Amino acid sequence: TGLFTYDSGFLSTASCKSKVTFIDGDKGELLYRGYPIEQLAENCNFLEVAYLLKNGELPNATQKTSFENTIKKHTMVHEQLTKFYSGFRRDAHPMAVMTGVVGALSAFYHDAMDFSDAEHRSVSFNRLVAKMPTIVAMAYKYSTGAPFMYPDNELDYASNFMRMMFGNPCEKYVANPVLARALDIIFTLHADHEQNASTSTVRLAGSSGANPFACIAAGIACLWGPAHGGANEACLQMLEEIGDVSRVGEYIKRAKDKNDTFKLMGFGHRVYKNFDPRAKLMRKVCDDVLQELGLENDRLFKLAKELEKIALEDQYFVEKKLYPNVDFYSGIVQKAIGIPTEMFTCIFALARTVGWMTQWEEMITDPEYKIGRPRQLYIGAAKRDVVPLAKRA
Ligand code: CMC
Repeated sequence: TGLFTYDSGFLSTASCKSKVTFIDGDKGELLYRGYPIEQLAENCNFLEVAYLLKNGELPNATQKTSFENTIKKHTMVHEQLTKFYSGFRRDAHPMAVMTGVVGALSAFYHDAMDFSDAEHRSVSFNRLVAKMPTIVAMAYKYSTGAPFMYPDNELDYASNFMRMMFGNPCEKYVANPVLARALDIIFTLHADHEQNASTSTVRLAGSSGANPFACIAAGIACLWGPAHGGANEACLQMLEEIGDVSRVGEYIKRAKDKNDTFKLMGFGHRVYKNFDPRAKLMRKVCDDVLQELGLENDRLFKLAKELEKIALEDQYFVEKKLYPNVDFYSGIVQKAIGIPTEMFTCIFALARTVGWMTQWEEMITDPEYKIGRPRQLYIGAAKRDVVPLAKRA
């Protein structure tokens, strides 16, 4: 019973009012707090963008330094948290580890439950944004058996992350500034994207009044899937599988076949029906990184470009308005930087934490906020009586 509007996949349902991010899918436009993503990627670093998303305005120079210092204060994790890693198999998928470890943070910060206090909400944001690089790098180090690296607060956000990923306690590690800047832009491009599946998950989990750290763990779980954040990993695996430019046609044919479940990973988007502005920026980052590393002739990059070219000219993709999305090139850049494929979605989670926490805060402080509780169209059995076991056929 019930006359509810059926909207599978929420194609036309606005679940909230938001002031954070605006997308015009037809124009291929993405704005954070009104600022075009292109300008933010060019002129700001990730922590400035995080400040913007959190506070609604870009910081001035004093606010920027103060925010960076605050984040630095929180980069270490509780020593007890490091024990959680050893409960996982070394070959566990790092997104499984992330879901567990970030969820475990909720047991360390009970003050996060005091949502009515703006200071507590702000500290939860700062803690998570500061600790995510440490937690992601530890997941990687654990998988290789290498010792954990403590953060170095002398470094900027991206360089510190690279050092924790690729450095070791015996040697001085200096991150290549071109690669660190590229990574910082990747973070900015992933920082928020209005009511995508994982953000909606964080809001829904948060709407019951749950601990925000546990809500972020729910977001990480949702992000993992290949239709969402897992697409960058799946895209690189697809490119490896295709292997050679000569086989692109075969895979395009498969993607178009109704009876084949194969989809071109890194293509298509629920909202962008013209192009994904993040993909354009990512392609440029990719060019810069490959040039810096002398990998312009990289096999996978060439393959990706060829795939993009053929797909963009193909009637099927044109008619269905399927364009490369942010995940199409991000895997190649990350691989070139030295990040292993299974870590790609963790990088996405690291950056999206800023958007998740911003949107959680917006929801929890919204005077109109209610617990998220969708209705359904029931299509199951009509009311009937239980037949005693002995009489059942
Ligand atoms: N390759 C081949 N056909 C596709 C693809 C693709 N990548 N994407 C969509 N289609 C077809 C789909 O089969 C459908 O065909 P038909 O109308 O004949 O049923 C039509 O295009 C519309 O697609 P849809 O699946 O109904 O669209 P959606 O809005 O529900 O899904 C999507 C959007 C992103 C989940 C989907 O395009 C997809 O699975 N893409 C591949 C995975 C991917 O790259 N995901 C990353 C998204 S961007 C980053 C993020 O948000 O995490």
